[in-house]
Amino acid sequence: MYKTHTCGELRSAHIGQAVTLAGWVHRQRDHGGVTFIDLRDRYGLVQIVGDPALPGLEVIQDARQEWVLQISGEVRRRPAGAENPNLATGEIEVEVKQCQVLNPSKPLPFLINKDEDIDENVRLKYRYLDLRRERMQKNMVLRHKVIKFMRDYLSEREFIEVETPFLFKTTPEGARDFLVPSRMQPGTFYALPQSPQQLKQLLMVAGVDRYFQIARCMRDEDLRGDRQLEFTQLDLEMSFVERDDVLDLVEGLFTDMVKQILPEKRLLASPWPRLTHAEAVERYGSDKPDMRFGMEVYNLGDIFAGSDFRVFQMALESGGVIKCIVAPGCSEYTRKEVDALTEFAKTQGAKGLATLALSAEGVRGTAQKFIKPEEVEAIQQRTGAKTGDLVLFVADSNSVANKTLSALRLLFRDKLNLADPNLLAFAWVVDFPMFEWSEEEQKWDAAHHPFTMPKMEDLPKFETDPGQILSDAYDMVLNGYETASGSIRIHRSDIQHKVFELLGLKDEEIQSKFGHLIEAFEYGAPPHGGMAPGIDRLVMIFADEPNIREVIAFPKNQAGRDVMAEAPSPASERQLQELHIRVVEPEKSDK
Ligand code: AMO
Ligand code: AMP
Repeated sequence: MYKTHTCGELRSAHIGQAVTLAGWVHRQRDHGGVTFIDLRDRYGLVQIVGDPALPGLEVIQDARQEWVLQISGEVRRRPAGAENPNLATGEIEVEVKQCQVLNPSKPLPFLINKDEDIDENVRLKYRYLDLRRERMQKNMVLRHKVIKFMRDYLSEREFIEVETPFLFKTTPEGARDFLVPSRMQPGTFYALPQSPQQLKQLLMVAGVDRYFQIARCMRDEDLRGDRQLEFTQLDLEMSFVERDDVLDLVEGLFTDMVKQILPEKRLLASPWPRLTHAEAVERYGSDKPDMRFGMEVYNLGDIFAGSDFRVFQMALESGGVIKCIVAPGCSEYTRKEVDALTEFAKTQGAKGLATLALSAEGVRGTAQKFIKPEEVEAIQQRTGAKTGDLVLFVADSNSVANKTLSALRLLFRDKLNLADPNLLAFAWVVDFPMFEWSEEEQKWDAAHHPFTMPKMEDLPKFETDPGQILSDAYDMVLNGYETASGSIRIHRSDIQHKVFELLGLKDEEIQSKFGHLIEAFEYGAPPHGGMAPGIDRLVMIFADEPNIREVIAFPKNQAGRDVMAEAPSPASERQLQELHIRVVEPEKSDK
C-alpha cells in the first residue's frame, strides 16, 4: 500500500496518528530551515513539514512542483495562528519522518497550482497536466455524477443499456459522415454513426421496449464552442409511448438530478414551460430561447404600416417584417456604442440597425427623425418600453430579423447581466416543422431527421404544402442552448417511404441506404419514440463553463485536431496499400 490516507481526508481527529501519504508537490517553500510542502491528490491538499537536515529527509528540499512523493509521518495540530481556514485540512499538518521520491517532474509548461489564462493549445498538448488542475478535476467528477445519475434513474425504470456498433452505415443527422475503409472488402467503407438513431429504432422492433445508451456520436461538421466531432448523448428510446410520455420521463430525470447533484442551482419553473416552435420563434426570435430573462421580440409591422421611413417601407413592401427588442436602461448609449451594435447586427445578416432612445430629455436615436410621436407611443404600449430604455429595430426578412434580434438579445444578456447563472431555465419546444427548404440545394431537408413522425392531420400536405407539415419532434432547451432533441418516430414503412421520397431520395437509394429499416418496419414494428440529451452541453452548463471542451477529458481543438497525440496524421504506405487507398493531394491554391 502506497498510502494509509488520502491527502484531503486528514482532520484534527487524526492528530497523533502515524500516516503514509502519496501525492504530488503542489507548492513548496523553505522557511527558517524547514521545508513546507502542500501535498496534493484527487481528494485535496495537506501541508507536510520536514527538516531537510535530518538524515533521509534531504530530498524534501529538492522536491519541485509536481514531483510525486511518498511520505510517512505524524499528524499534528498546526501552531496557533498558522491554521488555514480555507483548507479542509487547515487545522493540521503532517510532520515528515520519511520521504521517498516516487518520480520527479520536468519543469512545467504551465502552473497547475494557479488558475491562470493559459493558451488553449498548450493546455490541450499537455492535457494530462491540465486535467490535474482543480477546475478540471471538478468537471470530470461532475460529468461522472451526471452520467451515473442517468444510468441509475433509467435502470430503476426498466430501461436497459444496449451497446450499438460504431462500424455501421450512414445514419443521417445533418452532418457529414466519418468513413472507415474496409480492408476485407476493398473499396467499401463503414460510416461511423452520427447517432444510434436507426439502431435504437431497430431495438424497438426487437422488443427491447425501453432502451438507453451513453452513446458516442461522430459528426464531421464545423466546430464551435458547443460542438465537437465526437460527443456523447444520453440516447434513449421507448415503445408504445406518446410524446408526453417521453417528455415526462426526461423532465423527471433532470428535475431530480438537479436536486440531487446541483444543490446550488435552481429551476426556473416546475413543471417546465412548454412552447410550440412557432411561439418560441415569435416571442424570442429563436427556437432555443434563453428564458431566464424577458426582453422579448416584438413585431411592429402594423404600427409602421404608414411609416415614412424608407427602410421600413421597403421591408414591408417586399414581404418582410419590422421587429424590435427593448434594452432596459440603455437610452444613454453613445454614438460609438450604437455603431458597435449596428456592426454586430450586420454580422448576423441585417442590413442595419435603427434605434430609438427614450431619454429623459426626449426621444433620440438613429430612427428618431423618421418615427412619428404616435408611433413612439404605440411602440411603448406594445413593448412596455419606458423612459431610460433603448429600442432596437431590424427591418428585414422574418428570418434575418429573428436571427439578428435574438443574437442581440443574448449580447445584452451578457452586457447587462440579465441572466442569473445559478438559474436553470429548462423548457420544451414542441411541434417543430417537419421539413425545411434548403435554398442552397433547392430541396427539402428534414428539420429533425427523416425518421420523425409527421402530424397525422398534416399527411395530405405532402402533396400540397410540405413546408406547412408539423411533426412530433421536440427539443429540450436550457439557458439558450438546444440540449436535447427527439421525436415520435415513423413506424409505418409507407410513411417512411413517403418522407424519403420528399427528401429527394430515389427508390434505389432508399433501398440501398435504408432498405434494412423499411423492411424491419414490415415485421410488426411497435409505435415508438425517444430523444437524446447531449451530455457535453448539459455538463458545460451545469459547470458554468464557456465551452464543451472544458468538460471533455480529451477534446479536439477548434480545428478538429488532437494536439497532444497529433491526430489526424498520415497513414503509412503499407496501411494504405492494405486498404487499397491512394491519397490524392489537394491541389495547392494560388492565394
Ligand atoms: P440531435 O442531432 O439533435 O438528435 O442531437 C441531440 C443532442 O446532441 C447534442 N449534440 C451535440 N453535442 C456536441 N457536439 C455536437 N456536434 C452535437 N450535435 C448534437 C445536442 C443535441 O440536442 N438521434 C437524434 C435524437 C433522437 O431523435 O432521439 C439526434 O441525434 O445537445
Ligand atoms: P440609411 O437610410 O440607410 O442611412 O439608414 C438609416 C438608419 O437606419 C441607419 O441607422 C441604419 O443603420 C438603419 N437601417 C438601415 N437598414 C436597416 C434595416 N434593414 N433595419 C433597421 N435599420 C436599418
